[in-house]
Amino acid sequence: MLYNKRISLKDGRTCVLRNGDAQDGQALFDNFMLTHAQTDWLLSYPDENSLDAAQEAAFLKEKAMSPNEIEIIAEIDGRVVGSAGIERVGHKDKVKHRAEFGISVDMDYWGLGIGRALTRACIECAKAAGYAQLELQAVEANERAVALYRSEGFVAYGRNPRGFRSRIDGWQPILLMRLALDGSAG
Ligand SMILES: CC(C)(COP(=O)(O)OP(=O)(O)OC[C@H]1O[C@@H](n2cnc3c(N)ncnc32)[C@H](O)[C@@H]1OP(=O)(O)O)[C@@H](O)C(=O)NCCC(=O)NCCS
Repeated sequence: MLYNKRISLKDGRTCVLRNGDAQDGQALFDNFMLTHAQTDWLLSYPDENSLDAAQEAAFLKEKAMSPNEIEIIAEIDGRVVGSAGIERVGHKDKVKHRAEFGISVDMDYWGLGIGRALTRACIECAKAAGYAQLELQAVEANERAVALYRSEGFVAYGRNPRGFRSRIDGWQPILLMRLALDGSAG
C-alpha cells in the first residue's frame, strides 16, 4: 500500500509519514536496532533481528506493492525516527478480516505526536484495505502505549499473564487489544 502525509509536530517540526520502500532498507534496519534496544516493551531483542538491511529493503518493497499491508515510516529532516505497520493475520476466509498492528518510535522523539499520527495512519490504511478488525498485543506495564491505544478506541479483550518472558524482568503480562473498523460494536 502507498501512503504519504505531512504533519506538524508538537514542537513545530514537520514530519513526513510515508510508506517505506526499497531505498529505506538500511534506515529502517538502523531504526529497528535502535528502538529494540531502547525499551523492554517489544517482541524481540536487537540480536534476534532476523532481517539484515537488504532483506529489510525487500520487505519494504513487498509492502509497498501489497494491496493490504503497509509499513509506514516517520521521517524528520530525512531521518527515520519511527515506523508502524499493518500485517494481515492470514489469507483464509475465516481470518482475512483481521490485521495486526505494530509500532515503535525512537525514544529521542517521544511525546511529539508521532506515535498517535502513525497509529491513525495505520488505522486509515487498515480501513482502506477492507479489514473489519485491527489487533495488537501490548505489555500491560507499557502505560504510554496502552494509553495511546485506548484513546484511539482499542479495547482489551484478554490478558496473557505469561505473554513475554523478558531477559531483564521475567514474566511480562500481555494485553490483547482490538479495534473494530467496520462501525460495529461486536
Ligand atoms: C508507544 C509509542 C509508540 C508512543 O509514541 P510517541 O511518539 O511518544 O506518542 P505520542 O507523542 O503521539 O503520544 C501518544 C500518547 O501517549 C500517551 N502518553 C504520553 N506520555 C505518557 C506517559 N508518560 N504516560 C502515559 N501515557 C503517556 C498519551 O496518551 C499520548 O497522547 P497525548 O499526548 O495526545 O495525550 C512510543 O512510546 C514507543 O515507540 N515506545 C517503545 C516501543 C513500544 O512500546 N511500542 C508499542 C508496543 S505494543
